[in-house]
Amino acid sequence: MRAIAIERFGGRDELRPMDLPDPKVGPDYVLVRVRAAGINPVDFKLREGNLDAAFNHRFPVVLGWDVAGVVEQVGPAVVDLAVGDEVYAYGRKTEVAEGTYAELVSLPAAMVARKPAGLSFTQAAGVPLAGLTAWQALVEAAGVQRGERVLVQAAAGGVGHLAVQIAVARGAEVVGSASPANHDFVRSLGATEVVDYTAGPVAGKVDPQVDVLFDLFGGDALADARGAVRSGGRVVSLADPQPAGDRDDLQGSYVFVRPGGEGLDALTALVDAGDLRVEVAEAYPLDQVAAAHERLEEGHVRGKLVLEL
Ligand SMILES: NC(=O)c1ccc[n+]([C@@H]2O[C@H](COP(=O)([O-])OP(=O)(O)OC[C@H]3O[C@@H](n4cnc5c(N)ncnc54)[C@H](OP(=O)(O)O)[C@@H]3O)[C@@H](O)[C@H]2O)c1
Repeated sequence: MRAIAIERFGGRDELRPMDLPDPKVGPDYVLVRVRAAGINPVDFKLREGNLDAAFNHRFPVVLGWDVAGVVEQVGPAVVDLAVGDEVYAYGRKTEVAEGTYAELVSLPAAMVARKPAGLSFTQAAGVPLAGLTAWQALVEAAGVQRGERVLVQAAAGGVGHLAVQIAVARGAEVVGSASPANHDFVRSLGATEVVDYTAGPVAGKVDPQVDVLFDLFGGDALADARGAVRSGGRVVSLADPQPAGDRDDLQGSYVFVRPGGEGLDALTALVDAGDLRVEVAEAYPLDQVAAAHERLEEGHVRGKLVLEL
C-alpha cells in the first residue's frame, strides 16, 4: 500500500511516500480503506520525536491517528462491524507504527464507529481526536451543566471549534478566545462572547466570571485565563496536570484523550441532531502532507486540516 512514513524523527523533510506491506488484521481488528486522514498537532510532535518517551515506535512509522473510510476486512472476533461499513476512528494504538496516512489502516474494532451519515469522509476525518478530546474534557471531566458559563481557549481551532458547539449543546453559555479574524466564526458556532487573546490578558475581559475553563495550552495562557474562573469553579486542561495551580478554590482536571467507539457515537448523535458541524479549513492530497504540517505548525488553522486519498 501507498503511505507517508518517516524513517527517523525529524523535520517535515522526513515525510516520505513509501510502498509498505498491507497491515495485518488481528482477530479484534478491522481493516479500513482510508478515504481521509485528519491531521492533529500531535502528528508533528510525534514526527519530531517528542513522544518517544511515551510510546514504542517501529520505523518506518506511518503517522496519523484520525481516519474516515470504508471497512475492507474484519477479524474473526469482530461482530458489530462488517465489510462495506462507512466508519471513522481515533486510532491511537499502543505501538506507533501503522497510522492513518496510508491507503489502509488496521484498527481495534473498539476504536471504530459508524461515520455520521451527514458528514463527508473529509469532514468526518476531522472529528475523532479533537471531538473526543472536547467531549471527554467538557462532558466527562468538567461535567458542564445547563446554564453554566464556559470559557473555551483557542475556540477557532481543531479542538476549540468542536468544544464550543459541545458546550452549547449541553446548554452552556460559551465565551471563546480567538484572534479578531476568527471572532465571527466563533460566534457562528454558538458562542455568545468572544475575547481577543492577542490583545493582553483575557481574565479582565470576562465578566461575569465563568464556571468552567477549558485550557488547551497550559503555561501563560492558562495562568491568565484562570483569573476568569469564579471561586468554586472547574479548570480542565490538555496541557497542565495541575491546572488549578495555586488556586485552592478551584477543581482541576487533566485530560489525555482516550480512543473509543462509544465516545464517537455520542459525537455522531450531536452531528445527527444538527448540533455539531466540522470546519475543514483545507484538504490536501496525501503527497502534500508536508505543506499541511507546515500550515498546522503555524498554529492558526480555523477548524481542521485533512488529507484526502
Ligand atoms: N491532551 C490531549 O489529549 C490533547 C488532545 C488534543 C489536542 N491537544 C493539544 O491541544 C492543543 C490544541 O490542539 P488543536 O488541535 O485545537 O490545535 P490547532 O487546531 O492547531 O489550534 C489552532 C488554534 O489555536 C489558537 N491559538 C494559538 N495560540 C493561542 C494562544 N496562545 N491562546 C489561545 N489560542 C491560541 C489559534 O487561534 P487564532 O487562529 O484565532 O489565533 C487557532 O485557532 C495542541 O497543543 C494539541 O497538541 C492535547
